[in-house]
Amino acid sequence: MDSIRIVGGRELNGVIPISGAKNAALPLMIASVMTDDTLTLDNVPHLADVEQLLRLLGNQGVDYSVNGRRERQGQGYSRTIHFTARNIVDTTAPYELVSKMRASFWVIGPLLARMGRARVSLPGGCAIGTRPVDLFIDGLQALGAEIEIDSGYVDARAPKGLVGARFVFPKVSVGATHTLMMAAVFAKGETVLVNAAMEPEVVNLAQCLNAMGAKISGAGTPEIRIDGVTGLSGARFTVLPDRIETGTYAMAVAMAGGDVVLEGAEANLLQNVLDVLTTAGAEISTVENGLRIKRNGNGILPVDVTTEPFPGFPTDLQAQLMALMTMANGRSHITETIFENRFMHVQELARLGAHISLSGQTATIDGVSRLKGAPVMATDLRASASLVIAGLAAEGETTVNRVYHLDRGFEKLEEKLSLCGAHVERISA
Ligand code: UD1
Repeated sequence: MDSIRIVGGRELNGVIPISGAKNAALPLMIASVMTDDTLTLDNVPHLADVEQLLRLLGNQGVDYSVNGRRERQGQGYSRTIHFTARNIVDTTAPYELVSKMRASFWVIGPLLARMGRARVSLPGGCAIGTRPVDLFIDGLQALGAEIEIDSGYVDARAPKGLVGARFVFPKVSVGATHTLMMAAVFAKGETVLVNAAMEPEVVNLAQCLNAMGAKISGAGTPEIRIDGVTGLSGARFTVLPDRIETGTYAMAVAMAGGDVVLEGAEANLLQNVLDVLTTAGAEISTVENGLRIKRNGNGILPVDVTTEPFPGFPTDLQAQLMALMTMANGRSHITETIFENRFMHVQELARLGAHISLSGQTATIDGVSRLKGAPVMATDLRASASLVIAGLAAEGETTVNRVYHLDRGFEKLEEKLSLCGAHVERISA
């Protein structure tokens, strides 16, 4: 298994191109199932999760071809992919493919809407309760679907088509919002989704569906209205820049020091995060080609942050912020409200010398003046990124093991950091 070796203590200086957002690319790719025309997506990041979803879509009968590599600084970042779902050959999404990535479950919306039938494995091999899909099921039932759960599969049927309805999410869910929005596109009449997720990726999906002929309004607010249509056509659409990748590199610069332009980054996608980083002592400005971040040299100031659905502070940057706070001048508090057990990085950061204590869903971080490199183990995608950030600032050598997590969500991480002067290399096992 590959690992990443970092020799810490170098400032970051230069330009980091920001890739297309993984969390936007995945639902946009899934939307291709809704038309027999070609959907062309530009700026699709080259990531393990994208490859995984290509395999699943291929299994349902979606033809795809990849081209249009965009050359940047001698490297190929992001791609153009053409998807054509002329014939859906299979409405079953099998366990082997869905279990590897939770977002695969979202195909249930388009398959049901277009084919009147979908049989999709429960995601992640986990039972309802620990990683629930209750909101998806309740929402699809509200649109008239008949649903049975049988042998680890959700079997959804709507032989006469779905019917528009008003559905109030009892809890904000990004995936359930994507899925119900897609399902409602072909429902008869009007659907109103209340307490919908407001994430920029939801807006991106609604824009793409509208470009394909859907009638969706209100995406980006808590109330989304969808007027049902009978068919969608093809379109060409660009995946928005990755706000989690942007925030991760911004935190890396804030921690290691330096002056970096995050090329293609958009401040409005992560204003809350930028405000937190400014409070922590980073200088952030909008420049012609993106966002510029500089560490102002006064050390890192502590912050108190609680994760929330957009526009609040994203859970996907919680681990990275914690890495930054390990070297703050004082005590910080970080509270996680979206996912339980999302503190797996705490033990690993402690191996580098961080002082963190946990009480329920809140971490208290007492800043230390230095971290010292050590071998660490990445436990999930964002936790891995936090260990890389900490390794960049730590003295000596840090080895981050199990790098496949990083490959799920960060395009060419070690190359991007190396171009800015970091000492980062991948060691292939
Ligand atoms: C998406 C993102 C992920 C991010 C998360 C929260 C993608 C591919 N993934 O994941 O990176 O961390 O949003 O911003 O876009 N829940 C239920 N019942 C359900 C569905 C969800 O209780 O039926 C709960 C979840 O357990 C969690 C919360 O709702 O506690 C939010 O999860 P959700 O927004 O659905 O996350 P994802 O869409 O899976």
